[in-house]
Amino acid sequence: MKTIIEPFRIKSVEPLRQTTATERAALIEAAGYNLFQLRAADVLIDLLTDSGTSAMSAEQWAAIMRGDESYAGSESFYRLKKVVSELTGFAHLIPTHQGRAAERILFAVMCKPGQIVPSNTHFDTTRANIEANGATALDLPCPESEETQSRLPFKGNINVTALSSLIESEGAAKIPLVMVTVTNNSGGGQPVSMDNIRAVRELTARHRIPLYLDACRFAENAYMIQQREPGYGRFTPKQIAQQMFSLADGCTFSAKKDAFANIGGFLCTNDTRLADQEKNLLILTEGFPTYGGLAGRDLDAIAVGLEEVLDPHYLEYRFASTAYLGNRISDAGVPIMLPPGGHAIYIDAAKMLPHIPKARFPGQSLAVELYRAGGIRSCEIGSVMFGEHAHYELVRLAIPRRVYTQSHIDYVIEVILEIQARRGSLTGYEIVSQPAALRHFTARFRPLAG
Ligand code: F0G
Repeated sequence: MKTIIEPFRIKSVEPLRQTTATERAALIEAAGYNLFQLRAADVLIDLLTDSGTSAMSAEQWAAIMRGDESYAGSESFYRLKKVVSELTGFAHLIPTHQGRAAERILFAVMCKPGQIVPSNTHFDTTRANIEANGATALDLPCPESEETQSRLPFKGNINVTALSSLIESEGAAKIPLVMVTVTNNSGGGQPVSMDNIRAVRELTARHRIPLYLDACRFAENAYMIQQREPGYGRFTPKQIAQQMFSLADGCTFSAKKDAFANIGGFLCTNDTRLADQEKNLLILTEGFPTYGGLAGRDLDAIAVGLEEVLDPHYLEYRFASTAYLGNRISDAGVPIMLPPGGHAIYIDAAKMLPHIPKARFPGQSLAVELYRAGGIRSCEIGSVMFGEHAHYELVRLAIPRRVYTQSHIDYVIEVILEIQARRGSLTGYEIVSQPAALRHFTARFRPLAG
């Protein structure tokens, strides 16, 4: 059979609340045209993020009941450690309450002011944590990533030539580590090839620079290597993930993505001296090293999720359902980041709304309209989120794992195509206030006249 179905059935459901377009117009105005300021109950289809929004499986809920809440030496920790060791091969596992806590500890231990941390593209919390330690977060995306419309297989790669020149010009001592984000979330959810990870590995090893993976979506990256990279079709996603991790010295991980957990994360390293320093910091702000920032039950849910996410049937469904949304709107002329990745479809708002200049936030304009027209919440990934560091003006439709069905997605497609037909009427926005540093969470906007 050709139809790829959801490889699960639904045991527990949550009602969705319908609102009218008039109600939504008032709600988004009151929220300062900032989607992070809406109440979730006022959202119909929530595609703000795929992070922490997954539906857990019956096995994960069962694992929650098994959780061992002992302060020290919890069995839940050892169950997670077994799964993580087998998957990643890393010697030390440091549980944290989510990915950014792992980042904060890693960069506090590894970075000094004036140093540079290169990446294919840093996520916003990663960038902020590097900068908070006085170092510079440098994005070195590959040249093929520049064009959103080209259907190339590995547009998430890091530019190895640029990385090599950087090491030559700045000196290895100035680069405490190189970070490769799989998949490249801020770069349109595009994957990184094994070839690219291996090339970075060879380069960094020559200069004795540690290589870390930001492994949030490691399983989706592994699946795309299996599907797109010559020679990998004969390996399972798990074997590919194991190869990816074997090329790195450590990783940060948010279990809120490819572990189907609603909270959690960890930091791994092979360096015992670093692990000791990291655990000291962990105790200050997260907790004892066998639970970090989590309850024992969360550690168990993550352990189960890490195995479920590598199921080839799940990954096949995940990519088929994301591509369904991407291909349907792309075929109707909506410019999206091509080819579709795993966790999200990214609309290229600069291309869709060429009449709105970058300084007037085309991504924000489209995101507001998706809410007003259809109650859909998306996320601007462009000049609002990244300011001068923005590479594109994207609107991300992130797909929570195992949550929405095909008819939800058909509805999303209908809303997008309705907006596409009248896109010339959308107007730009300006920021009227921005109280905190991460302005995409807190800024208030004002629509500008057409
Ligand atoms: N790295 C990447 C690539 C991410 O996408 C995220 C989170 C993090 C690190 C931080 O992890 O949220 O557990 O602290 N991304 C979410 C998103 C928030 O919507 O893409 P966290």
